[in-house]
Amino acid sequence: KKVVYSAIQPSGSLTIGNYLGALSNFSDLQEEYQCIYCVANMHAITVPQNPADLRKRTLDLIALYVACGIDPEKSILYIQSQVPEHTELAWVLNTITSIGQLNRMTQFKDKSKKQKEVYAGLLNYPVLMVADILLYQSAFVPVGEDQRQHIELTRDIAERFNTRYSPTFTIPDIMAPKVGAKIMGLQDPTSKMSKSDPDENGFILILDEPDVIRRKIKRAVTDSKGTIAYTDEQPGVKNLLDIYSSFKHISPEEALREFESAGYGELKEAVAEAVVEGLAPVQERFHAIRGDKEQLEAICRDGAEKASYLAQKTLRKVYRKVGLVQF
Ligand code: TYM
Repeated sequence: KKVVYSAIQPSGSLTIGNYLGALSNFSDLQEEYQCIYCVANMHAITVPQNPADLRKRTLDLIALYVACGIDPEKSILYIQSQVPEHTELAWVLNTITSIGQLNRMTQFKDKSKKQKEVYAGLLNYPVLMVADILLYQSAFVPVGEDQRQHIELTRDIAERFNTRYSPTFTIPDIMAPKVGAKIMGLQDPTSKMSKSDPDENGFILILDEPDVIRRKIKRAVTDSKGTIAYTDEQPGVKNLLDIYSSFKHISPEEALREFESAGYGELKEAVAEAVVEGLAPVQERFHAIRGDKEQLEAICRDGAEKASYLAQKTLRKVYRKVGLVQF
């Protein structure tokens, strides 16, 4: 089976952007592929984290993966820091990655603007992500549109290594959803919805209560046109149609037909109900699983063991080719 690999940072509570762009698409891939899903806590510490919160959110995310249908019997589900091969491979890859290329990463540019001091870990973040993907010989990486540049970097570095030494890594492809690959902020529909947005009305969390969801969508920024169309000139309305069609599993064109003669109020109400309804089963399962700490820990231990086994195979090859002694 070909390998599908993805990871999510436990750097905040997850939004419906994370859900529609990534998480909600993971469970369907489990039959056809060997899926490997990771909680990227080593990535999360590239910006300041509160240790207690980070620990809690790490287990929250494991529970959320399970609530979204990831079956630990079928897929490998693990925490990044429990598989040390990630940082080991990242170090080797750092030696063939140019600083210029890292400086050009748009995520780095955006994130570093928000930091008082920019640490080396933030610049090297994409190299760790490249290591995550290459360690498992991944063929496909299901992620949102914002990760495209990082996947291109992954292909670049893999090709560079393969050429410099000999074929070692599978060259991965991005797998972005047709709709929902870029959910925009509700207060600023020209920038992506982000879990680190300081304005709480800008995002909807997967675990938001129904009334909170309804309130946030009611306040979503639209425009003064008053007519519903699916166009970049009306980013707020377009985003609402994207959210609606993703949750309803229909195309944006079909969604548009439903609302052609509606007003913004009516559209917002329907979107809110679609989101509430779509998230309800996930929330219910999350709360049922989250309390069982022993089971969650068992999933993590088992997942880390399986991941480590695969990761070591790749890492050994890499060390041998580069000339690093392994007695
Ligand atoms: P992260 O934790 O920021 O986001 C997790 C996933 O959610 C997607 N996403 C979105 N999709 C649609 N609309 C949005 N507004 C939106 N916001 C986020 C992201 O594209 C991602 O798929 N660097 C990664 C984590 C990572 C990773 C990896 C991913 C670390 N190692 C290896 C894949 C493979 C990140 O920061 O995602």
